Amino acid sequence: MKPREIKPGIFAVGAVDWDRRLFDSLIPLPDGTTYNSYLIKSKDKTVLIDTVDPEKVEVLLVHLQELDVKNIDYIVTHHAEQDHSGSLPVVLEKYNSAKVICTPKCKAMIMDLSLAPEGRIITVDDKETLPLGDKTLEFIHAPWVHWPETMLTYLRDDRILFPCDFFGAHLATSELYVTDRDQLYESAKRYYAEIMMPFRAVIQNNLQKIKDYKIDVIAPSHGPVHDKPEYILEAYRSWAYDEPKNIVILPYVSMHGSTAKMVNYFTGALMDRGVSVKRFDLTTVDIGKMAMSLVDAATVVIGTPTVLAGPHPLAAYATFLANALRPNIKFVSIIGSYGWGGKTVDVLAGMITNLKAEVLEPVICKGFPEKADFEALDKLADSIAEKHRQNKYI
Ligand code: FEO
Repeated sequence: MKPREIKPGIFAVGAVDWDRRLFDSLIPLPDGTTYNSYLIKSKDKTVLIDTVDPEKVEVLLVHLQELDVKNIDYIVTHHAEQDHSGSLPVVLEKYNSAKVICTPKCKAMIMDLSLAPEGRIITVDDKETLPLGDKTLEFIHAPWVHWPETMLTYLRDDRILFPCDFFGAHLATSELYVTDRDQLYESAKRYYAEIMMPFRAVIQNNLQKIKDYKIDVIAPSHGPVHDKPEYILEAYRSWAYDEPKNIVILPYVSMHGSTAKMVNYFTGALMDRGVSVKRFDLTTVDIGKMAMSLVDAATVVIGTPTVLAGPHPLAAYATFLANALRPNIKFVSIIGSYGWGGKTVDVLAGMITNLKAEVLEPVICKGFPEKADFEALDKLADSIAEKHRQNKYI
């Protein structure tokens, strides 16, 4: 793959990682990813926007060679995470007069994480500009999108926003630009859920911060480039601002069939009351798909048996993750079973302290569920449907 020109003098020089299937040893990547890096050749200066994951640094170096880049003046480093900054030492060594440009917080972090040398780093303030002759860069601080040190860069003359992870998508594709909007929407929403959702209020602030910029192109650091940026901007506005929908997320695990019986009954009870259900069998779940569903859902109900006096570890994992992602969930509950006792409800209740959600009466049955347990599940389904109706989710 050769470097591709976005506009005169602006090239995509990053790498596609078709085969990567896990990010941060946590996040499934069903469609691979890309580490986007961009080169700006202006009249006076040559600027590299971010580097790539160290695994792919050779791809970046070959692209720079193909563009006959003998000298880089600046490497704009938006974010210290290693998939964008981990190649800095190699690139700095090869281009030995290049200076890194980043926020003050990012400076400390790239020195720690990528061992970037202090003397090669220049820090910039929010809204500071850098003239490049016939082009001008403007740096926009955007802390917590999604680390504390992050910034974006706006190339004024060409009206291109380089937002690093913001508006990104883990999607390996041969296309430079978004060509399949449905596929992009799925990947970008998954990415938002896993990376950006914990910082929803900050995302809202940053959407406000860039709203008056004239943007023709958004060139993120993962996934294809947006040459019609309103689509992704609108998607972000919807994910960050919209009220939850009439959806119950039901992650569950069952050992001997009792909890599964309850989950099946409860699913039907919710459907009969006009409530949408998204079920996730935690023994086989794609955790990214579950995260994506949390963006829209009003309610989460965890289904778990009792193991060693507490929730099944898979249920604990899903609960921990949902709590960490801080979705805009309004109601939570627990259904499940036990053999002789335990503290399943107490343990799970103690794990959702980030969620500003009302806890609805759990339904925990002893052994295999009987009539009274099904009636309790009906009552919980009634309560959820009523809450959704009161809040106009239905
Ligand atoms: Fe793509 Fe937060 O790194």
